[in-house]
Amino acid sequence: MDPKTASTEAPGADPLGIFLEWHTAAVARGLPDPDAFALATATPDGRPSVRIVLFKGLVDGALRLVTNYESRKGEELAENAQGALVFYWSLLARQVRMEGRIERSAPSESDAYFRGRDRESQLGAWASAQSRPVESRAALLDHLEQVRARFAGKEVPRPPHWGMLRLVPERVELWLAGEHRLHDRFLYTRAGDAWQVERLSP
Ligand SMILES: Cc1cc2nc3c(=O)[nH]c(=O)nc-3n(C[C@H](O)[C@H](O)[C@H](O)COP(=O)(O)O)c2cc1C
Repeated sequence: MDPKTASTEAPGADPLGIFLEWHTAAVARGLPDPDAFALATATPDGRPSVRIVLFKGLVDGALRLVTNYESRKGEELAENAQGALVFYWSLLARQVRMEGRIERSAPSESDAYFRGRDRESQLGAWASAQSRPVESRAALLDHLEQVRARFAGKEVPRPPHWGMLRLVPERVELWLAGEHRLHDRFLYTRAGDAWQVERLSP
């Protein structure tokens, strides 16, 4: 894929399919953290916050991630379900933006994903009250040991505060770098089952 290839036409009718192709290319090229994206949420009065999280697949037209539902992002989403995200794969010179509602996945999906995690990560999900103040690293590790003792010899169940989220995109922008900053931008807006596409100025 030539990063500086300008396209005269939108890359296709299905932006999520193209997103997956680009992601696959980023993985194949060995880019660092090809799954990492910035996820923005906001309070109901419009104060935004943003952090990096990891892509856990596109299922039924929604982009999945896992997190702590009681984290700052989780609390913001409970009051304002609108979110936005951006991926940037530097060597591909491609950027993908999406906006839409973020919902909790079905508990069975979160359970299935949690079961596949290694045991230390499962214990960590219990040990960390993500986004809450913790007195010291020692206190965090102490909490981990308490959790380890509690589940010794047992399967670690999924904590109720931990699970999968799904962003259902209403808008997707595919961005391709062009020469002299004349980039290509294609904005896809959901129109029923299909997508409307328009080219934006760079
Ligand atoms: C490369 C990378 C990957 C991360 N992946 C996740 C993730 O998948 N889920 C998650 O909750 N936090 C992840 N984090 C941590 C978040 O950036 C953030 O610190 C955490 O979710 C708390 O954010 P909040 O307080 O805004 O809710 C990741 C951080 C980095 C740098």
